[in-house]
Amino acid sequence: MTKEPVEHDQSPFDPAAFQAFEAASNDKALTAAVLARLLDQAIGTGLVLTGKGSLDFYVPGIGDGLQTGDYAQQLHKATGRRLRIWSDEPSAELAAQARLRLSALSCVDGVEITVGDAFAPTAFAAPRVDLAELSHMLYYVPERATVSRLVTTIAQRLSPNGLALFIHDTPDTHFTELLTRYSPLVLPDPVPAIAEAAAALSLPLFCLNFTPHVRFEDPGLLDQLRQKEPDEPELLNTARVVSCLCQRGIAELRRLGLWEEALRDVRRRLDPEGRLPIPATVQMMPAPALAADGQAIDRLGKTIIQTASQLRELEQQSRDFNSPT
Ligand SMILES: C[S@@+](CC[C@H](N)C(=O)[O-])C[C@H]1O[C@@H](n2cnc3c(N)ncnc32)[C@H](O)[C@@H]1O
Repeated sequence: MTKEPVEHDQSPFDPAAFQAFEAASNDKALTAAVLARLLDQAIGTGLVLTGKGSLDFYVPGIGDGLQTGDYAQQLHKATGRRLRIWSDEPSAELAAQARLRLSALSCVDGVEITVGDAFAPTAFAAPRVDLAELSHMLYYVPERATVSRLVTTIAQRLSPNGLALFIHDTPDTHFTELLTRYSPLVLPDPVPAIAEAAAALSLPLFCLNFTPHVRFEDPGLLDQLRQKEPDEPELLNTARVVSCLCQRGIAELRRLGLWEEALRDVRRRLDPEGRLPIPATVQMMPAPALAADGQAIDRLGKTIIQTASQLRELEQQSRDFNSPT
């Protein structure tokens, strides 16, 4: 795991907007808690991720590694295996942050992040993986068909008792509505496309829904932004969160005449505490060898139902993780 990546940025994705969003939401903390609980219970069945040696983990579009790092320790505890993490991440800045964060974890043996496009046919250097996590990254596919190609590749590369986890915003919610209206993305709602791709491979998908929030500590700043320049220090973070929710740069939204509408649109969606719910879905896909075992699938299904019943408690606990914008 010593390959030196080419470090020029290949992402249109804005790390500053993403990090303003992370600071203003409980999304990463809650998602990591949900994934840790789900994996803990799935591993507890003795059916998944049971091998020896390192656990190879593919996380394309890993961002700054905050979410993955958050539950890596728990994953290590549940499996007794040390982790090797692989990724294709086009943002050189985020890739560097993820490398730093993940290689500092005592349970991690190697971090191989290639700065590049996970949707290119040449991506995915890991020969075989035990676990794949694709979190909020399939919005950026160049065309819908790419989803089925990537899901197929992942299914082929999973070890016999491996799992793939797909985490994206639930269709027809605030986030997908904002993406559909303001972003140039071709796939604002990947969840149905992932379901179709798994069905075409005759693989089951187990789904869990949960709801993180973004919080605007002072929603009045959204009104001020309609009159003032977004780079004023007290407004910049709020402007970046809006940009992240719309997945379009502030300057571009302004140039297209969409900025004021986007600010009003986000504002009208806030609850009385200044929070915007952003419901998400985890889709868990077992490896083909596991899917062929009917009894194993039944047992896994039962653990997912148990996990679902515990999610409200996790949502409640993570309410306080919100920090102000
Ligand atoms: C919303 S962030 C999610 C980051 C992380 N997975 C998480 O859930 O916290 C989207 C990530 O997808 C990455 N991304 C965008 N286009 C990509 C591509 N073509 N291949 C791989 N990742 C991509 C972005 O650079 C960014 O890190």
